[in-house]
Amino acid sequence: MPILEVRNISKCFGNTEVLKDISFSLEKGESLSIIGSSGSGKTTLLRCLNFLEVPDTGTITVNGNMIFDASDPESRSEKGIREKRLHFGLVFQSFNLFPQYTALENVTLAGMLLAKERPDYKSEKIRINEQIITNAKEILDSVGLSGKLDNYPHQLSGGQQQRVAIARALALNPDILCFDEPTSALDPELTGEVLRVIRELADRKTTMIIVTHEMSFARMVSGNVLFMDEGVTVEYGPPEQVIAHPREERTKRFLERYFENENN
Ligand SMILES: Nc1ncnc2c1ncn2[C@@H]1O[C@H](COP(=O)(O)OP(=O)(O)O)[C@@H](O)[C@H]1O
Ligand SMILES: [Mg+2]
Repeated sequence: MPILEVRNISKCFGNTEVLKDISFSLEKGESLSIIGSSGSGKTTLLRCLNFLEVPDTGTITVNGNMIFDASDPESRSEKGIREKRLHFGLVFQSFNLFPQYTALENVTLAGMLLAKERPDYKSEKIRINEQIITNAKEILDSVGLSGKLDNYPHQLSGGQQQRVAIARALALNPDILCFDEPTSALDPELTGEVLRVIRELADRKTTMIIVTHEMSFARMVSGNVLFMDEGVTVEYGPPEQVIAHPREERTKRFLERYFENENN
């Protein structure tokens, strides 16, 4: 059973259909890369998965549970939206760390807030919070930041801040970790640093959806690649097909432009 099944997702803004009938599935431990020009709908698709936008049509199924069905009004409501969102971790291009909190605090913050709702919180508060801190330290260590726990965002490089953002998403133990152009705001050196961390996550079989412009990286880490253009899936398949041997004219043209720019 796939960990994620996305079926027939469409989304309009006004009269513009930004997503048209997008479907894909993801096996546990697999990574999907989404590529496509600016404005093709990649961010909107991730936002739909996180219920920051409500799709007009389609279904989303996680671990065999249909968590969203556009034809069901209850499913479209805010009810249970937090639990639904917790299936997905999100890492944005702009790291969005809280400037007033340290790296460690940025990673523990959401977990500590959620823990307050646990029925055993009052009696177990100290133990629960200690566990959240221990877990956060382990994750920060795994992204190479064990020496930066007490640093504030302004004391960290862009690459380090993005690694904190990755740790923050991992700390809530999502089923699927989503990245929206995680290195687009970084210079080449820091880009390499962040891509290495994501690659290690792939090696450790973290299930991920990665919107990226880094084609050689996408080729290395993804089980499948989805090429979107103007809200439609033009090509979907293994990287050896979509990136190395595209079948569709639109994919070929996109990649030609991409590699031309890269060589300049
Ligand atoms: N909240 C919104 N309201 C209206 N139009 C939007 C909104 N968000 C995105 N769009 C439009 O949807 C299209 C796809 O945008 P986006 O998903 O950000 O593409 P990408 O991430 O591939 O660059 C663009 O034309 C964009 O202007
Ligand atoms: Mg985008």
